Amino acid sequence: MGTSSFSFEKIRNGVVLAELGGYGDGPYCAKHGAGAALVMLGTYIVDAGDSVPYPAHFVFKPGRSNYARYLQEHIGIARASGTQVGISVISVNISDTLEFLKVVQEAGADYASLCVHSTMKMFLRVGLGSALCRRENWENLRKWAKEILKAAQIPVIFKIGIHDTPDTIEAVDVIADAGIPIVHINVGNTGPGSKGLAMLERLRSKCPFLIGGGGVKDIEGARRVLKAGADAVAIGTAAMKDPDFCGRIQNLLTV
Ligand SMILES: Cc1cc2nc3c(=O)[nH]c(=O)nc-3n(C[C@H](O)[C@H](O)[C@H](O)COP(=O)(O)O)c2cc1C
Repeated sequence: MGTSSFSFEKIRNGVVLAELGGYGDGPYCAKHGAGAALVMLGTYIVDAGDSVPYPAHFVFKPGRSNYARYLQEHIGIARASGTQVGISVISVNISDTLEFLKVVQEAGADYASLCVHSTMKMFLRVGLGSALCRRENWENLRKWAKEILKAAQIPVIFKIGIHDTPDTIEAVDVIADAGIPIVHINVGNTGPGSKGLAMLERLRSKCPFLIGGGGVKDIEGARRVLKAGADAVAIGTAAMKDPDFCGRIQNLLTV
């Protein structure tokens, strides 16, 4: 699917409830994402035999029968937040990821996100997770983008971090050139004068739609992220602490 087929107006200048593994299931998103523009259900790790530090109901073995019912149910519940719903997916295996994406789409999600953010060993060991942003793994990054785009009928987000700063800026070019319409970057700290804000400024206009976040604690923080060049602002920890936070910030951004 090409970038031009989608409109992102519903989420532009809005709040995204960031994915929180171990927390971000349907009921969490309905409560903590109420009033936001988009809620991201927590990372669904398609377990290929490795262990991950999340409660059992966030971890699925490959195969649609292991997660189809969960996705139907939790997307439905998350919709009670009145927002668009996205789901994060990551697996060590591309065919398992694509199957998961298919079921996510059947379950009615509006967005899917590939977690290129993880620093878990099981991903780094095979050049995935945040390692995908490293120059030596860009061929694989392109391959994952291409395969995912072929299967995607909904907009796909690539979520990255700033673990490999020198390569990160160019990795965004690689992702955008491959046709992925949205990059979500966790820059860690978005305080005034921070490196995170400078990073967002450098990424401005590099991809069709940029979600930025990291350490947003108040409306000033959200405004700084948008002013620096993000098209939407992601919030994780502050929303976890205060279930009304996302809705409040979204309201303030709208007026
Ligand atoms: C408890 C916790 C769990 C998280 N789990 C995930 C995850 O599963 N996948 C992911 O991409 N990011 C995950 N993150 C990162 C958040 O989505 C977000 O990008 C990050 O916390 C920065 O935003 P914040 O400072 O507003 O929390 C997690 C963060 C926290 C605090």
